[in-house]
Amino acid sequence: MVDVEGAQVAVFNLEGHYYAIEDVCTHDGGMLTGGPIEGDQIVCPRHGARFSIRTGQALTPPAFEPTAAFPVRLIDGEIQVRDDRWD
Ligand code: FES
Repeated sequence: MVDVEGAQVAVFNLEGHYYAIEDVCTHDGGMLTGGPIEGDQIVCPRHGARFSIRTGQALTPPAFEPTAAFPVRLIDGEIQVRDDRWD
């Protein structure tokens, strides 16, 4: 998890591909990191909602709204993430 200009962003490496989503569960604002990762999903440790690591989509209740997904790139071994919501 990293702080990107005030946004808590969780970065994942799934089989060599990097993904970044906001580390906030849309059910009740809990942090997603710390929950189990199953395939390309992360399970909120508080009430069990599942989110797609690739897209941020909420996959199961009690969350219904997606969490933000951010563009990621790898440049000279450095992982770069950008919060593009306010562009
Ligand atoms: S805070 Fe994540 S499922 Fe409730």
